[in-house]
Amino acid sequence: MLIAVPDVLNPAQLAECRRLVESADWIDGRATAGHQGARVKDNQQLPVDSPAARQAGAIIVQALSANALFLSAALPLHILPPMFNRYAGGQTFGTHVDGSIRQMPGSGQRLRTDVSCTLFLAGPDEYDGGELVIEDTYGPKSVKLPAGHMILYPSTSLHRVTPVTRGARLASFFWLQSLVRDDARRALLFDLDVAIQRLGAEQAGHPSVVQLTGVYHNLLRQWAEM
Ligand code: NI
Repeated sequence: MLIAVPDVLNPAQLAECRRLVESADWIDGRATAGHQGARVKDNQQLPVDSPAARQAGAIIVQALSANALFLSAALPLHILPPMFNRYAGGQTFGTHVDGSIRQMPGSGQRLRTDVSCTLFLAGPDEYDGGELVIEDTYGPKSVKLPAGHMILYPSTSLHRVTPVTRGARLASFFWLQSLVRDDARRALLFDLDVAIQRLGAEQAGHPSVVQLTGVYHNLLRQWAEM
């Protein structure tokens, strides 16, 4: 399931994140790639523990904690600290799959990556290329969103970033472990939640709202792991 979450950051939050990361010192992105990823990865990243990455990451996590669409679609249990990358001058990231287990910096706690997130920090008019191409069940999907918008996709999927041939593509990327590991189950719960919200808005007080909300929570009870 690919889900676009619009306006994760408001203009002030977006400007602050950009100010922080644009003035920071970037390093070779291969520093954090696994065996397979390092061969196809060519970009820049901020060190995970840099003050700029931590401060901008905190703004993003704070914004996500109040975003109903994100919470419903991802059902996050643990969110890894947001990281930041930059592609320019033809840089690209070839087809790869994200590692399944990552360690939380600091605590060393291990997380299973269920959902991959890319939050665009540069607008589509600022660079050419730089599409995130995700192999979906129905074929490849090419994604390039406005600044401040985010795409969620299953960490199980193959994906790549096409070469950036003009300007610079700035983004935050991170992973989360979901309460519900299976993408198909998360998609069902999300569809059900959207339908319940719509019914509640259009037919306030309809007894089916309570009944369907019960079904939602009882499915979540069956499937949630923590
Ligand atoms: Ni990736």
